[in-house]
Amino acid sequence: MHLRRWYARHGPQVPLAPAATERRGSVDTARLAAYPPAVTHQPIDLFKDKARDFDTHAVPTQISAGVGAALRARVALTADMRVMDFGAGTGLVCAHVAPHVATVYAVDISEAMLAQLAAKPELRGKVEIRCQDILERPLDHPVDLIISAMAMHHVADTDRMLRAFAAHLVPGGRLALADLDVEPSTFHPHDAVGVFHHGFDRADLGRRLAGAGFTAIEFATATQVVKDDRRYDVFLVTATKA
Ligand SMILES: C[S@@+](CC[C@H](N)C(=O)[O-])C[C@H]1O[C@@H](n2cnc3c(N)ncnc32)[C@H](O)[C@@H]1O
Repeated sequence: MHLRRWYARHGPQVPLAPAATERRGSVDTARLAAYPPAVTHQPIDLFKDKARDFDTHAVPTQISAGVGAALRARVALTADMRVMDFGAGTGLVCAHVAPHVATVYAVDISEAMLAQLAAKPELRGKVEIRCQDILERPLDHPVDLIISAMAMHHVADTDRMLRAFAAHLVPGGRLALADLDVEPSTFHPHDAVGVFHHGFDRADLGRRLAGAGFTAIEFATATQVVKDDRRYDVFLVTATKA
């Protein structure tokens, strides 16, 4: 169901945060123009059947708890911050950040996941939902911090994604991205659709971040998670837009 219709039927379960009266700066669309349009996701909602009980699964809840704690330890959150959560999903990581900042823009291409987020009273008034692919259609204003957990492996073109992040950040803006370290293609079912990376190599991702215009690139292990008797490391990389 389209979010607009979902809201019409259920009412504003999460009244979206009041639009900021003052927007500073604009998204650096020149950075995006350097990259030709590309289809970066399937035109279907790959999380449609997973959304309803996503928060009941141990793996995403453990990862989001670990990432949330690591993020809070490494990034100074302030009450005036505008934050984008890329691939926000049901808002598991948003929930760790929203109480400490002005607004979180929950960006995702899954209406089903965002509908779950929208129904969470604890996010009421702090989260604005953006169901759009920012690689194709950027937000209409920049942000101070971009966070993301377990979404990057769903984006085929990592460089394009990092350029889009840079374009959305104010100068000096911060990035905090979490995903799996390189894994032996066992984390997802072998026939999973929309999984483009079986984890990320830290050195390679660091080089790509530098190439996209980021400095102060630091990796940490945010958490470890066990799935089907295998242990997976989840990194958190922080960086600053030069
Ligand atoms: C594994 S879930 C993680 C959700 C949440 N970040 C968490 O940690 O619980 C991955 C999310 O990334 C979203 N996603 C995939 N490709 C995306 C894209 N191009 N832009 C925005 N979100 C995307 C999916 O729809 C899904 O909600």
